[in-house]
Amino acid sequence: MEIHRIGRDASVLNNQLEVPGVGYLAVNAFVLKAAEPVVVDTGLSLPGRGFMDALGSVLDPADVRWIWLTHPDRDHTGALFDLLEAAPEARVITTFIGAGIMSTDRPLPMDRVYLLNPGQSLDVGDRTLRAFRPPLFDSPATVGFYDDNSGICFSSDCFGAPMPTSELAGCAEVRDVPRDDLRAGQLLWAVIDSPWVHNVDPAKYLGTVEPIRAMDPAVILSTHLPPAAGQTAEFLDMLAAAPGADPFVGPDQRALEEMLAGFEPAGTA
Ligand SMILES: [Fe+2]
Ligand SMILES: [Fe+2]
Repeated sequence: MEIHRIGRDASVLNNQLEVPGVGYLAVNAFVLKAAEPVVVDTGLSLPGRGFMDALGSVLDPADVRWIWLTHPDRDHTGALFDLLEAAPEARVITTFIGAGIMSTDRPLPMDRVYLLNPGQSLDVGDRTLRAFRPPLFDSPATVGFYDDNSGICFSSDCFGAPMPTSELAGCAEVRDVPRDDLRAGQLLWAVIDSPWVHNVDPAKYLGTVEPIRAMDPAVILSTHLPPAAGQTAEFLDMLAAAPGADPFVGPDQRALEEMLAGFEPAGTA
């Protein structure tokens, strides 16, 4: 895993997935070294991804007090139960819906859960984290937050973009990504992850962008994008364009078979 420091308090634990025909998708989790340390999401649910080792290089997992689960998709919950074991004082911040979704697979121990809704806040000792619903999301449980001490907005899946190369999916700053690739990738991700964006009332949808404009974050940290400092205006412009972006239609069975045939080594039947 790549690890990037963001300012004094935050670290990015970066992993990635190659998505055939789409690109390389960052799958980030984050550490916020507040007085009560916070881990934001827990990485991919694939074996051997080294989440706990990477986390241990940033802080002692036993010191973690909060695990902010932005939503219980499997690219966010990978090391959740390992971390709960390693951090006996930690509680999982989620919603009633998030805990319910987890209960269909592996239930969270309810005495380790802390329910927090968009619009509510959490005091973590030296700062207040303000929960909000990002404008684009793929789960009814999604909750991001803003840390007004560091000026960082944690946006969950919102603002993600597949990258043309593995290096860019793991890079330390989204400014390294060519502008056109970034914009096209963000719009593609918007319609893949939030296909409902084509069906929204434009005025109501644009209203959901306003909380981010008001927080005017110095840095946006998305699960699926390299760290983004000073990009808020461009990103909000991208959000406004998302309802008009081309819908995504995934490969069908015929396309899959063509892809698989293309993988066969030359000379085999
Ligand atoms: Fe998701
Ligand atoms: Fe995700």
